[in-house]
Amino acid sequence: MLKNEVLYALEQKKGDVMTGGELAERFGVSRTAIWKAIHTLKADGNEIITVPNVGYRLLPTNDTLSSKVISDKLTTDFIGRSLTLLPSANSTNQYLKEMDTSNLPDGHVVIANGQENGRGRYGRSFISPLGEGIYMSILLTPKSAWHSIRLMTVCAAVAVSRAVENICGVRADIKWVNDIFLNGKKLCGILTEAVMSGELGEIDTVIVGIGINTGSVPDEVRNIATSVKDETGLYGIRNSLIAEVLNQFETVYCDYVDKEKMRDILNYYDSRLFIKGREVLVNNYHNKYVAKVVGVDENAALIVTTQSGDEEHITSGEIQLQ
Ligand code: BTN
Repeated sequence: MLKNEVLYALEQKKGDVMTGGELAERFGVSRTAIWKAIHTLKADGNEIITVPNVGYRLLPTNDTLSSKVISDKLTTDFIGRSLTLLPSANSTNQYLKEMDTSNLPDGHVVIANGQENGRGRYGRSFISPLGEGIYMSILLTPKSAWHSIRLMTVCAAVAVSRAVENICGVRADIKWVNDIFLNGKKLCGILTEAVMSGELGEIDTVIVGIGINTGSVPDEVRNIATSVKDETGLYGIRNSLIAEVLNQFETVYCDYVDKEKMRDILNYYDSRLFIKGREVLVNNYHNKYVAKVVGVDENAALIVTTQSGDEEHITSGEIQLQ
């Protein structure tokens, strides 16, 4: 469609002016056709400025999702090479869980501009307003029993932390096991879900769901959550950040079957574990107790010392900062 081509062309020169004639010639259409496409793009909410007698400029803050722009920035072999972009979804994880994924390739990614019923761990919700975050799910068909849900979540956390640091230039901390924090507030949550095969009860596919706040943070979570925009002032980076998360994820995901490389991944994870040395409330659903965080072991279990001095390796449940 012409409007998508025009948006893509403007995106390539984001911040610079392109003339109507230049665009018309590029797509072999009249200037009037370009003018109409620009009009529709503006009506769709794109931040395009018409510079009188000169041309059109896409503002650097424009944050429209584009599968073409994302694909251009991918360096992966398979993660994100097949991609579905939705204006809105109930939940991108649920979307994949409910569909027949047998025809979808390993590494297929679903991205939504907003979610009506974004889901977090333990049945919590993940508030996902339109245009204010990255809401995406990666479909994986793990080939080895080595692949554990917890380690895949760790891979995703490392990928998001590295991507945020590369694209936004800020240190992105990790809270075991699935949260990314910026300056003490939650930026991103990860929900990894296994889909079991009916007959054999084996893991059929794994869905890694990633939610990152990029724009305005909803009032109801403002005291505990933050966003890229709030912490860095950056806006208009969703396409770049999505691509970088996928690039980083593929590297980490391919590396982690190699025990040596897994050590490096866990070392990175450990270096960003900002709860180290701090007292936390461990809630493993059998009991709750206060303990001090030591680090993570080779299986990404959280090592803590209890108040009676015992060392424990926590593999499930969650922790709350004291
Ligand atoms: C958490 O904080 O407990 C996890 C939040 C995970 C949110 C992401 S957004 C994309 C995907 N779809 C969902 O419904 N949830 C995950």
